[in-house]
Amino acid sequence: TLTAKDKQTVKAFWAKVSGKSRTSAPLLMLVVYPQTKTYFSHWQDQSPNSPAARKHGKTVMMGVGDAVTKIDDLKEGLKELSELHAFTLRVDPANFKILSHNILVVMAVMFPTDFTPDVHVSLDKFLAAVSLALAEKYR
Ligand code: HEM
Repeated sequence: TLTAKDKQTVKAFWAKVSGKSRTSAPLLMLVVYPQTKTYFSHWQDQSPNSPAARKHGKTVMMGVGDAVTKIDDLKEGLKELSELHAFTLRVDPANFKILSHNILVVMAVMFPTDFTPDVHVSLDKFLAAVSLALAEKYR
């Protein structure tokens, strides 16, 4: 579970980096784990650099930012987003782990100074909690 210190660390880190890293993690996911592209087959341009991919990358990272504001009750806060991914989009929850990993990698590479061991641990815990909340409606 997320401690008060984890929450504080995540909020402070996100406040620093949000806006500077809007699309990179979801785009990396499409490149490194091409199987995740199956969910986006309705995009005409399948390249990870397409306008649709960039726009969606931004949407997802805004979603993560929104989750930061709901950090005290992610299950309740992400209820609708979980329903969307479970019932409408039918995204395999294994993909949440893949995306979380890509977010950590991108943050570590883009913000090596701010990405301290403490940030790494707290952000990892937070993304796991977000993934769990998003998978909530699958059960
Ligand atoms: C749509 C957030 C993970 C596939 C969305 C939307 C948000 C979002 C905010 C837009 C919802 C709307 O239009 O109301 C997130 C967050 C994630 C996550 C916060 C995890 C941290 C994933 C993963 C996949 C995925 C791992 C698949 C590999 C999709 C698809 C859509 C979508 C296919 C609809 C895109 C479209 O065609 O417009 N997501 N997402 N998401 N997400 Fe996620």
